[in-house]
Amino acid sequence: MKSNTTIALFILGIIHVSIIGCQSDLKMTPNEHNNAVETKLDSLLALMTLEEKVGQMNQYNGFWEVTGPAPKDGAAAKKYEHLRKGLVGSMLNVKGVKNVVEVQKIAVEETRLGIPLIIGFDVIHGYKTMSPIPLAESASWDLEAMKKSAAVAADEAAASGINWTFAPMVDISRDARWGRVMEGAGEDPFLGAKIAEARIRGFQGEDLSTNSTIAACAKHFAAYGFAQAGRDYNTVDIGTSTLFNQVFPPFKAASKAKVKTFMNAFNILNGIPATGNSFLQRDILKGEWGFEGFVISDWGSLKEMIPHGYAKDLTQVAEIAVNAGSDMDMESYAYVEELVKLVNDGVVKESLVDDAVKRILKVKFELGLFDDPYKYCSIEREKTIGRPELQEAVLDVAKKSIVLLKNENQLLPLKKNGLTIGLIGSLAGDKDSPLGSWRAAAESNSAVSVLEGLQKYSGNTIHYDKGVDVLTQNPGFLMEAEVSYDKSGFKSAIATAKKSDVVIMVLGEHGFQSGEGRSRTQIGLPGVQQELLEEIYKVNKNLILILNNGRPLAIPWAAENIPSIVEAWHLGTQSGNAIAEVLYGDYNPSGKLTMSFPRSVGQVPIMYNRYNTGRPINAEANVFWSHYSDELNEPLFPFGHGLSYSTFKYENLIVNSNSKNEITVSVDITNTSKIEGKEVVQVYIHDLVASVARPIKELKGFELIKLKAGETKTVSFVLSKEELGFYNNIGKWVVESGDFKIFVGGSSETRLETHFTYTN
Ligand code: BGC
Repeated sequence: MKSNTTIALFILGIIHVSIIGCQSDLKMTPNEHNNAVETKLDSLLALMTLEEKVGQMNQYNGFWEVTGPAPKDGAAAKKYEHLRKGLVGSMLNVKGVKNVVEVQKIAVEETRLGIPLIIGFDVIHGYKTMSPIPLAESASWDLEAMKKSAAVAADEAAASGINWTFAPMVDISRDARWGRVMEGAGEDPFLGAKIAEARIRGFQGEDLSTNSTIAACAKHFAAYGFAQAGRDYNTVDIGTSTLFNQVFPPFKAASKAKVKTFMNAFNILNGIPATGNSFLQRDILKGEWGFEGFVISDWGSLKEMIPHGYAKDLTQVAEIAVNAGSDMDMESYAYVEELVKLVNDGVVKESLVDDAVKRILKVKFELGLFDDPYKYCSIEREKTIGRPELQEAVLDVAKKSIVLLKNENQLLPLKKNGLTIGLIGSLAGDKDSPLGSWRAAAESNSAVSVLEGLQKYSGNTIHYDKGVDVLTQNPGFLMEAEVSYDKSGFKSAIATAKKSDVVIMVLGEHGFQSGEGRSRTQIGLPGVQQELLEEIYKVNKNLILILNNGRPLAIPWAAENIPSIVEAWHLGTQSGNAIAEVLYGDYNPSGKLTMSFPRSVGQVPIMYNRYNTGRPINAEANVFWSHYSDELNEPLFPFGHGLSYSTFKYENLIVNSNSKNEITVSVDITNTSKIEGKEVVQVYIHDLVASVARPIKELKGFELIKLKAGETKTVSFVLSKEELGFYNNIGKWVVESGDFKIFVGGSSETRLETHFTYTN
């Protein structure tokens, strides 16, 4: 062992010195630098046995108590042996400096070549200090805020030894039944692409080699969000137009933003598993888009090709996956068990293995792990996790994520003195649920509850009465949530409401009711919450409903009856403080929905960028038009909707084309209220006649502006040719001459419109 270690360090030393040498050569052009890195990676590759190469393509979940004794038998012992032999390139779910050092030491000191591991973790919306869930953050439409939030998460995760996050999820989602909508940026590809880029820049920073930035991962490639009937892991069968125009844009933007990794998906796409799909991974991603990073599989998605009915055994799984461009295997053991033999038998070309390994080594190199495998591992720095400035940052994005859905009679903002407030609903006192799903290293019950947030404003009297539980108990990350139907708290809650000037009810979903594996067929308020809401409303109509949820909810009764509704999602660690600031008007809300809220689950999937159909209106006054007999077509709250305590007037919409054949759009927006506020100005187009029918509205621009009371601003947008084009049904990008409508306003249902003609 001793001599092995010496040899390994010696070889590694040579590699270090030479790679670092080329990195710091300031006289090199970027191309020369890239070539030099390639050469170094090639020389490292040349030192590797086939087994060692395949080892780099193997990722294991943390499998033993790393600071305890080494595993002696069973699967863990085998994995441990693999780790020591250099047959593991990456581990996930190992966290904390001490643990990371332990596993890294084995890779660096005990394996023949000493190639460091890359340590991955699902840092989805924060590490220990939690930001809002991604769907909530997307409602801020504030790209800088989202970038900052990702940077905060990266900073904390990196301080805990982690070098790679499996985020952002950039799947477009239109189906509120799917639990993972909480992880994405909603239904729109244009906005989704901008947010993907912002988050990647936040995680990866300007310089990936610093020890506070981590590699990001655009997932799940592709079309995972289109699972039939919103059931997680279900079949996806969509056409070329949806794939290219809806699913791909955020992924393409991620590749363009130089995201270091992609994750493929569990689903089949038109009959081919994403993991074994060479059209997706080789033709589009690595081919057309020129993606230079590596593709990690989803958890066990290689071996799931067997139940999909696409591979007969693990050997075939490995062959299909490597041919299709899946570079690293997360927990299927397919590569580590099968790939060496497949290459030796001439079934798989070694050049494909080499390509995958080089991609993986390159990311490790860019992270600076060859320079110092322990660069993320400082016990001192680890102590900075959770520091006050990070709390400030997540509070800031939490406020920006809140959407004021309705506010009649200016019930909000609340007066700061003299009120008796009845605060009802177990979520109001809950310090755990706001942490949401995918909460990384957050401590249970570490969020500021709504109750705690409101108590800081001491001029009012608060009577808290939980009234109703959402769940019978906290299920944790792995287990199914069991909804509570217990009504024993109703009586006391009703009495509390009766003696209050204002009632605030915090209702919705527990943080563990959305996320992976948490699809639902009913998307109203779970359990008996709706019933309690109606009972309370009977005795006190000054009712403010705060929603906590990870997906759009169908709440038609509330939308009709309750005067004020605040969408507060799962806002993370600072949840209660953010909500309190909005309720009291210390922060004027400006969030806008990024997923349409349906009236009923029967409308799902629902999105603003739908097609017109041949029978969009009731022209003949009979039943034969595209509609439901029992429900309206329109959503309850549309994409882009969100109010403010300020009010805004849009006028003077002007459109022109300039000499470069660009379309310039300008509009005047006036804050017609007495307080300063922010507004997300949105621009939509409708291509009226095209060779492939186009949606009735497509977002093509937005700007978040701030207006003082009474102030007017002219906001201008330039739509280039790119914004007017689309992919046709053979996946070809086309820009066609023709007539367009253009709409500007504060929601996708804006009626302020004009038109222009575009000529190629
Ligand atoms: C999820 C991925 C996640 C992975 C690792 C899978 O079940 O689909 O999004 O990154 O687990 O935890």
